[in-house]
Amino acid sequence: MTVEPILVMQGICKSFPGVNALKNAQLRLFPGEVHALMGQNGAGKSTLIKVLTGVETPDAGEIRLNGQAISPACVGEAQKMGITAVYQEINLCPNLSVAENIFIGRFPMRAIGIDWKTIEHQAAAELAALNIHIDVSLPLASYPVAIQQMVAIARALTTEAQVLILDEPTSSLDEGEVERLFQALRQLKQKGMAIVFITHFLDQTYAIADRITVLRNGEFIGEYPASTLSRLDLINTMVGREINEASYAANSSAQAASVADKPYVSARGLGSTGGMHPFDLDLYRGQVTGLGGLLGSGRTETARLLFGIDRADSGTIRVDGHAVKLNSPRQAVRYGIAFCPEDRKNEGIVADLSIRENIILALQARRGIFHYLPKRAQSAIAEQYIEQLGIRTSDAEKPIGQLSGGNQQKALLARWLATDPKMLILDEPTRGIDIAAKLEIMELVKAQCKKGLAILFISSEMSEVLRVSDRIAVLRDRQKIGEIAGHDADEQNVFRMIAGAEA
Ligand SMILES: Nc1ncnc2c1ncn2[C@@H]1O[C@H](COP(=O)(O)OP(=O)(O)OP(=O)(O)O)[C@@H](O)[C@H]1O
Ligand SMILES: [Mg+2]
Repeated sequence: MTVEPILVMQGICKSFPGVNALKNAQLRLFPGEVHALMGQNGAGKSTLIKVLTGVETPDAGEIRLNGQAISPACVGEAQKMGITAVYQEINLCPNLSVAENIFIGRFPMRAIGIDWKTIEHQAAAELAALNIHIDVSLPLASYPVAIQQMVAIARALTTEAQVLILDEPTSSLDEGEVERLFQALRQLKQKGMAIVFITHFLDQTYAIADRITVLRNGEFIGEYPASTLSRLDLINTMVGREINEASYAANSSAQAASVADKPYVSARGLGSTGGMHPFDLDLYRGQVTGLGGLLGSGRTETARLLFGIDRADSGTIRVDGHAVKLNSPRQAVRYGIAFCPEDRKNEGIVADLSIRENIILALQARRGIFHYLPKRAQSAIAEQYIEQLGIRTSDAEKPIGQLSGGNQQKALLARWLATDPKMLILDEPTRGIDIAAKLEIMELVKAQCKKGLAILFISSEMSEVLRVSDRIAVLRDRQKIGEIAGHDADEQNVFRMIAGAEA
């Protein structure tokens, strides 16, 4: 029996000024299948999806849904045809409540006005199905990124779709949440839905995908049943040359940095009511300290206390031996501390400014408005980091919003490296970054560390934390429960520590 695809995209071309984002791209979606769309940062994955959902108009090519040619002109139109998407950058309404976000545009109506009780009740039930139990009447913005992402997914799941597209939905979810999402996807598969799944996590690809399409530089490279394409072949197909994950892991740990004998930042009994329980933490120059723990364990809260975003109401901080107060990020920056936040859309990039302006933003802020960096110097700095971090762009003057997600993340990292900090906090620095770029960034982090930078590293991928960190502080329920270093630092030991605290 041959199964016909629900949806076929063929010969899709799309150019933006200076970029051929899609050159003859294609995609076939079958009912009851999860289709992984793979490719490096800037390969054209999100653009292909945007063409499908009517966000972008293709320059050429055709889309057929159940054999009929379609050309959705906007998201609403695509949705009416049964094509719905959760985008890479969450684009719900932060000021509306969680419930409103799930049902916006299609409220269950009573005779007079909107039936709030029903909406909240249903919204809570939809989230409960994903095992998320939160107050749905609070504004979306009051929840962490991961929860917001789950809300976006819940919204997509409640629409009656034939085709569901998830563009990097899992980059801020922890393992448990990913598993819950996958359970939901398996149910949808059974109902015959065609699902497109975009991720840079290869484990997830192999856990959920039935079929894989690879794009490279906007071109269709191939379509493969997931069971016949090995992990290594997949990587090499995406990158277009041979790279070796394992060799990186081996040599990075060999090049140990020389660690300062006194901590640069030293926290004692630092805590905040309703936030972190008081904890001790020492951060040394020349050393990467990782924060291990599950989502909600207090990793970001710890970072925010050390950067003066949240105020501590107990404990002390010493920087370079001197007792200091960190009441604002501005003070933290003055002490040579930099923070690359996880939520690049809200706290990070300024979409309308150029790549150059985004990169020099923190440096300029630290110098103050009376010490304006001449444009030539700005360009030199921007060019240097574009080169060093391999940011894919034809021009530093382009609005940063036009870069692919992973390249935006690299520009954000450049912004903080440009301030030449003594301590750098990296919260999910590789979120949305492809595997080749991820290895490059990790090497760069290690190299900066060798030059005497103290690094606090946060990632929801435990294997990544283990790979880069010299020492790991383990957190659970907003409490630091211990530290692990050297040979003890393996995944099992960290999870055992987290589980042990539970018992
Ligand atoms: N609105 C736009 N204006 C100009 N260029 C754009 C625009 N949107 C995308 N591009 C460019 O098109 C190319 C493909 O980008 P796209 O976002 O589709 O990549 P991606 O495969 O989703 O990457 P990532 O894994 O980083 O999310 C990139 O070079 C990007 O800079
Ligand atoms: Mg993308």
